[in-house]
Amino acid sequence: MSFIALSRDAAVATITLDRPDKLNALNEALMRELLDTVTGLDEDASVRVAILTGAGSKAFAAGADIAAMREMTSPQARQFAELGHRVGAAIERAHIPFLAAVNGVALGGGCELALCCDVVYASDKAKLGQPEATLGVLPGFGGTQRLARRVGTGRACELCMTGRLVEPEEALRIGLVDGIAPHDELLQRVQRVAATIAENAPLAVSAIKRAIVRGQNVTLAAALEIEAASFASLFGTHDQREGMRAFFEKRKPVFTGE
Ligand code: COA
Repeated sequence: MSFIALSRDAAVATITLDRPDKLNALNEALMRELLDTVTGLDEDASVRVAILTGAGSKAFAAGADIAAMREMTSPQARQFAELGHRVGAAIERAHIPFLAAVNGVALGGGCELALCCDVVYASDKAKLGQPEATLGVLPGFGGTQRLARRVGTGRACELCMTGRLVEPEEALRIGLVDGIAPHDELLQRVQRVAATIAENAPLAVSAIKRAIVRGQNVTLAAALEIEAASFASLFGTHDQREGMRAFFEKRKPVFTGE
């Protein structure tokens, strides 16, 4: 049984969390399949952007699977958390940008998955939150760390400790999401952003992601070093020469990813 649907439109791949009868709750099988899918896309040079969304109109993902977690021992819970961390790391280390299209509730692990993505767009009907404390646990797929990095430690504490759900407008205001779209237009809008990114030089887009993601976790001096090295690495590439030549020739550049 598959819990992930993968589709392609030119250079844009869309990963759909596909367990709608359980509001796309994240069980181990789904997370393993997601990890394999993300790894596969990262190895596919023809893919330039990935979109992550949920099946159905109600949920991106309603969290880690509570039915499965209910029976877990502490060592099993540790393994489950580490699987979540591996998925997050795979998304963050991928050479392509990931855009989250949060098409409904993104709770617990669902919110944490969205937080792993480079840009997060939400439907105006979405609700986001980390309700784990209401279940006697905490966000275990990286949420305590990525949420704090996104919205600040005070807001992360407040959201995780109360477990309250956040409406899209507040999510946008506090930086938990980066854009809101009318529910029925969300995917189309995110596809348009993806198509725009896919038109740009792939090595440059990858380098931007690497510099921003890696730069978050090191000192400013080290982050600037990453930026300088990435900047230099693009010079002499086909796409750098093509992009600058096209500017002077007043035409659209044709990027090859080399
Ligand atoms: N884990 C496992 N199953 C889940 C789930 C989860 N996190 N979230 C929803 N489901 C299941 C429900 O048990 C239900 O299954 P059933 O039809 O076999 O009974 C199905 O998905 C539909 O959910 P339901 O609760 O009936 O839908 P709703 O529209 O009434 O409520 C939510 C939607 C999101 C408010 C509610 O499902 C919810 O609170 N889910 C848990 C959210 C959460 O705490 N997540 C963090 C987990 S760490």
